[in-house]
Amino acid sequence: MADHKSLRPEGRSFEGPAGDGWRARPANHPRRLVIAITGATGAVYGVRLLEVLRALPNRQTAPVETHLVVSDAAVLTLHQETGLQRKQVEALADVVHKQNNIGAAIASGSFQCDGMVIAPCSMKTLAAVAHGLSDNLITRAADVMLKERRRLLLMVRETPFNLAHLRNMTAVTEMGGIIFPPLPSFYHQPQTIAEMVDHTVARVLDLFAIEHELAPRWAGM
Ligand SMILES: Cc1cc2nc3c(=O)[nH]c(=O)nc-3n(C[C@H](O)[C@H](O)[C@H](O)COP(=O)(O)O)c2cc1C
Repeated sequence: MADHKSLRPEGRSFEGPAGDGWRARPANHPRRLVIAITGATGAVYGVRLLEVLRALPNRQTAPVETHLVVSDAAVLTLHQETGLQRKQVEALADVVHKQNNIGAAIASGSFQCDGMVIAPCSMKTLAAVAHGLSDNLITRAADVMLKERRRLLLMVRETPFNLAHLRNMTAVTEMGGIIFPPLPSFYHQPQTIAEMVDHTVARVLDLFAIEHELAPRWAGM
């Protein structure tokens, strides 16, 4: 479990406790996140994450540069679930990479960044990550995060799970990745789907020590 007191979100570099899979980024590099949207239902999570990162309250002093990859299957789910076209979603990111561009900067461990979120993550992409199958830019970038000991968060979505899904989630966890199914909570009494989504996205930002004002924090009963 990360000790958040040891994180320095306002600074130019993060240091997680040893062994938590979070490698420090050099102080002179900007905060950067790789975001992938794959073809599981829940495309709204990736879209909302991009929107929030563009509008961070402290974006002038501590911006987060976003590098986006949208899978071909995600183009379908994005349209089905949000009505958005690929171009509209890509316009929310600072840098856009094509899924088959295996020569992109994010395919290399020399690209400095704070980590990667796959939001949402299909069982197919989960399986590829779990087995080191770098067959496209998304799975290659995820592979790089694991080998470089950077934070990798998979918003896996399927129900129910079969044994392959469960084993693949275990394998990713054993390699240091974070399995983060976007399961809504109800204790904060959400009134809208947007509130539910924001609550989940807020927890994702917390895991990267990115300050936000997205959702109220639990202050006890
Ligand atoms: C509307 C729709 C919803 C889907 N929902 C899921 C899902 O929740 N979880 C999942 O693993 N796959 C889901 N799929 C199937 C994936 O899109 C499919 O396995 C695809 O090959 C994933 O490829 P990708 O990981 O490269 O995006 C869905 C497909 C469609 C069209």
